[in-house]
Amino acid sequence: MSPCRPRTLLVSGASRGIGQAIARRLLADGHRLSLGLRQPELADPWLTADSDGPQLHRHPYDALAPESAPNSAESWVVAALEHFGHLDGVVHCAGLFSRVGLTYAPGEQAEIEELLAVNLLGPWRLSRAAWPQLLACGDGRVITLVSMSGKRVKGGLAAYSASKFALMGLCQTMRNEGWTAGIRVTAVCPSWVNTTMAAAVTALPREAMTQPEDLAASVSHLLALPASAVPFEFNVSCQLEQ
Ligand SMILES: NC(=O)c1ccc[n+]([C@@H]2O[C@H](COP(=O)([O-])OP(=O)(O)OC[C@H]3O[C@@H](n4cnc5c(N)ncnc54)[C@H](OP(=O)(O)O)[C@@H]3O)[C@@H](O)[C@H]2O)c1
Repeated sequence: MSPCRPRTLLVSGASRGIGQAIARRLLADGHRLSLGLRQPELADPWLTADSDGPQLHRHPYDALAPESAPNSAESWVVAALEHFGHLDGVVHCAGLFSRVGLTYAPGEQAEIEELLAVNLLGPWRLSRAAWPQLLACGDGRVITLVSMSGKRVKGGLAAYSASKFALMGLCQTMRNEGWTAGIRVTAVCPSWVNTTMAAAVTALPREAMTQPEDLAASVSHLLALPASAVPFEFNVSCQLEQ
């Protein structure tokens, strides 16, 4: 399905995995993308084909960078605005996984703090920086890769689940605060998606997982929907959830 109109979107986490599949699909759809990448110079060759042109902008971005740093969320938004002149959406794909559990070992608190800084504060700071643009455009979109782990907890994984439940809370707040200005927020909640992140965690065969390209097709469709039809939650599971 082709989009109603081309959007100008920030996309994080596009170096690989789900974010790359989404960026490739949205570029093919005709959207203009600003990609925030930790190492733009090392990005997959597909990016260099249309480098920093009218449809594609790349900027260094590390979710852990302090606000004043050139690779912070705040600096990225400024650079994207200088490049395109406006923004009307954000797609949050950057994220980390962690196995840290409830009774974490001495020294593991730093991993929890990094996880929260990337999975929660990353989308929060980027949305906050882009919010004036989203409000002003009257039809903004925020799509966030949450997880089924932001809706239910299977087993342990206290740190990862806590980061994703908190992210879901952030999504609900953005939905509430942006609603009357036409901003629509979707929390995308997959179970297993065939990326290196999932392969490191589950023994599920890769072909049995949701494929990144199929998730990207769903995100493409979400962006084509009018404000009156955008779902807040988009749940995708490759296994029975009960
Ligand atoms: N795969 C799954 O089964 C699954 C299921 C549910 C939800 N999710 C969520 O979907 C999102 C994408 O997952 P994925 O499977 O595509 O993961 P992935 O393949 O591991 O990719 C993670 C992405 O996040 C970026 N990133 C990590 N730390 C960052 C930081 N400090 N600053 C900026 N970017 C950073 C990585 O950039 P570098 O290349 O520079 O490391 C990479 O682009 C995550 O939020 C994940 O929690 C995944």
